[in-house]
Amino acid sequence: MGFILAAAGSAVGLANVWKFPYMAYENGGTFVLIYLLCLLVIGFPLLIGEMLVGKASGKGLFEAFGELGKPLWNNFGYLCILSGVLILGFYCVVGGWCFFYAGSYAMQGMGVAEVPGFGDYTGNGWQQILSTFAFVAVTIGVVMAGVMRGIEQMVRYLMPLLGILLLVFAGYATSKVGFSVVTDQLFTYNPDTLNGETVLKAVGHAFFSLSLGIGAMLVFASYLKEDNIVKAGLWVGVIDTAVALVACFVVIPMVLLIQKQGGQVDEGAGALFVAVPALLSDFAGGNWLNMLFFFLLSCAALTSSVSLFEVVASGLHSRLSPEGDPRKYNWIMGAFVMVLALITSLSVGANESISKLNLFTHFDDAVTLYLLPLGGLLIAIFVGWLMPESIIKQHFGKRAIYPVWRGIIRYVTPLAMGLILLQSFL
Ligand code: TRP
Repeated sequence: MGFILAAAGSAVGLANVWKFPYMAYENGGTFVLIYLLCLLVIGFPLLIGEMLVGKASGKGLFEAFGELGKPLWNNFGYLCILSGVLILGFYCVVGGWCFFYAGSYAMQGMGVAEVPGFGDYTGNGWQQILSTFAFVAVTIGVVMAGVMRGIEQMVRYLMPLLGILLLVFAGYATSKVGFSVVTDQLFTYNPDTLNGETVLKAVGHAFFSLSLGIGAMLVFASYLKEDNIVKAGLWVGVIDTAVALVACFVVIPMVLLIQKQGGQVDEGAGALFVAVPALLSDFAGGNWLNMLFFFLLSCAALTSSVSLFEVVASGLHSRLSPEGDPRKYNWIMGAFVMVLALITSLSVGANESISKLNLFTHFDDAVTLYLLPLGGLLIAIFVGWLMPESIIKQHFGKRAIYPVWRGIIRYVTPLAMGLILLQSFL
């Protein structure tokens, strides 16, 4: 139970609530259906594969593969650190947006300030810097204070609350435009939009959302004693997907509605931050509901950023000096992530020359479209072809799905991933 909660806390985050709805809106039903297919044939099997490596070795990033007889593969850790740092570089910016919206709706509720529109806010350099700084500082603070356990306890109660809130919002938002309007947008397959790019986006997002391809699930599972990985993997996947789908029913109706009324809506990164306030503007206590929603989302983002940070910092620590003081590596990593995220925060409109570099989008694309899928491909090859089968069987348990899983991880996953990656370079 503790493991499932921790892993779900890491998996459920901004990818589900902030990113998936706008990707689903922009790319349409074909993307969503391919995403669900990718979860089944690539995501779930790999989630179990990554957990197997961690659980069977009982070791972290730079030791797990060596422990299982392939020391050269320990260098996989470098890829994980690179992906992790790049994710933190843009993830913390969005986390900062959640902080800012929670805080400024509280102030608006008290009548001391007004919440700026999304575009004005992302164009304001000082507000960007302050928000991002706060989010990175709290992430590092939680890691340094070693209070992750406490956070997990909190998450136990807060995340179900976020889930309930999303469900209620989804019901209300969907009733405004009609259920079938949303499902048409979300699930209509259109062969014209089926191309390599859509598939790559769907796979990449499946990795991002399940925290795959970066060694995070490996590290989690290495702390695992006798838990059942197959069951844990399934739960994490189901919870993660459910949250993402429900979030679509909040964001998409509102985007459609605002457009119908002739309003301007940022369909991309800003969709969530426009949709939820628009929905809640109907209510007298809207400010406080907004505050509550963005506060809970901030917590969901924090559990993800903290676990990302820990993967990266502890990886660096075990590589460079396992005997040394781990705090040193937290500081080094913290400083690096802080600088990177602050620069990225200015790239969404606040600073002209930084915005031209498009850092935010480039970090996101580099990780989700290339690095995570590459990490996943490597894990599939390792688990399917190099890891001794006797060890796998020992940890997989006696299950009827074993041969199916084995076939998928050996053939389907590597082949699909290889093809998808290859075509993206052509
Ligand atoms: N899955 C997380 C989210 O949905 C983001 C994430 C990607 C992550 N990779 C990770 C979190 C690794 C923790 C560890 O927001």
